[in-house]
Amino acid sequence: MPLQLALTVDRTSRLPLAVQIRNSLRELVEDGTLRPGARIPSSRQLALDIRVSRSVVVEAYEQLSAEGYLESRHGSGTAVSAHAHAPDLTSTLVPPDREPTPEAMWDLRTGTSNVVDFPRHEWIRCVTAVVADASHQELGYSPPAGVPLTRRVLTSYLGRVRGVRSRPEDLMITSGFAQGLALICKVLLDRGHTTLAVEDPGHPGEREFITSSGLRPIGIPVDDDGLRVDLLEESGVRAVLLTPANQFPTGARLSQARRERLIAWAREVDGYILEDDFNSAFLHRSDRLPALQSLAPDRVVYAGSASKTLAPALRLGWLTAPSELMASIEHVRAGWDIGCSGLEQLALARFIDSGALDRHQRQLRKEFHRRRQTIRHQLETCLPGTRLTGRDSGLQAYLQLPAHIAEQPLIRAARQYSVLARGGRFYTMTDTSRPPALVISYATVDCTGLAQSLLALGKAYREMPG
Ligand SMILES: Cc1ncc(COP(=O)(O)O)c(C=O)c1O
Repeated sequence: MPLQLALTVDRTSRLPLAVQIRNSLRELVEDGTLRPGARIPSSRQLALDIRVSRSVVVEAYEQLSAEGYLESRHGSGTAVSAHAHAPDLTSTLVPPDREPTPEAMWDLRTGTSNVVDFPRHEWIRCVTAVVADASHQELGYSPPAGVPLTRRVLTSYLGRVRGVRSRPEDLMITSGFAQGLALICKVLLDRGHTTLAVEDPGHPGEREFITSSGLRPIGIPVDDDGLRVDLLEESGVRAVLLTPANQFPTGARLSQARRERLIAWAREVDGYILEDDFNSAFLHRSDRLPALQSLAPDRVVYAGSASKTLAPALRLGWLTAPSELMASIEHVRAGWDIGCSGLEQLALARFIDSGALDRHQRQLRKEFHRRRQTIRHQLETCLPGTRLTGRDSGLQAYLQLPAHIAEQPLIRAARQYSVLARGGRFYTMTDTSRPPALVISYATVDCTGLAQSLLALGKAYREMPG
């Protein structure tokens, strides 16, 4: 099969043609355009395509093979060497040590979603109906902010379940929370911000993401009532990103008093609050408070995601912002990608309208509550002396360890018992005053698995010097 390769030569250059070909190919491999294993045209084919003699291409290929960039495979032509250096193209928001996964029976690290229970049949039903019914207009381009129908459905859904006060024209469908964060960072930069406050502990990938956008993340400590707003006030920052419903990873809920103080702060400094509500579907009845946004739609940018309730692969999220900010966000978005897949957005609208999302979330909520109770009940016997912080909601348990237990030796010992978990330090930015901790995600391990993995963790725990 003839393969095509976007490569040209400059006949006016003094560089010999073989050198030009070699340099161009080497660059394509080094910048990751051609990944390890990627097939490239045969020397005969490339010579024909770029109109040079075959010996010139052969010379370039031989040189690159000697340098370890290419390899010839008997019967299947030439390819980029499987060992060629490839730049890491993974987002910082994806946990760094997820790939390759070390051999272990239980993976209790955060960053995963319960995709096992993804409602495949319901989703297929919605996608099939959408593909069958979509009008010509719906198959065309929609506004960068999203399909109008989906924005209407989501606005009323978020109003109903989270008390979010918005209008469809102030709501945007994003490619996950990650894109919402990238958009906000860009708009803040354009408006002269240089820093963005984040929770400490918090999501380490988000901090890197913020840094690479050009803003400096400033860590603000968290306690049992959520973000320390008093310390935020002292920081001099004018925008903050937080998870008020269920702090990631401690599980704390931002208290009512701090919610009010936070909003007063935003008004005082003429700043913004970015509310990451990605895990609110897992709030137990007794833990539910309306979204922070409902208290101050003029100051809070509210963002949610389908990654935890449905699947990260959908890359569907939403964001609602004060109108004057939304205009800037839309402007940036229009220059980026002209929006997400309209068909997926329409499927989401059907999924919500048919009540399937409510049903699915109710089931997940019940299941995750059971999992958390399993951990709670087993702590005393398996990990005596630890404290489960936060409320009885969420997707992970934050276990404060006795002061004498060192996190890393415990994590290493747990690995010996086939359990992968992370210590609190993984999430910490600068607040080193926190006691040691163990963070256990129960997103992908059921009650039976949790009970077994806690027994295994208990064995590792008992090996720690007393
Ligand atoms: C703190 C936090 N916010 C948001 C998300 C959802 O991100 P996305 O919608 O880009 O998948 C995650 C996913 O793990 C998360 O950990």
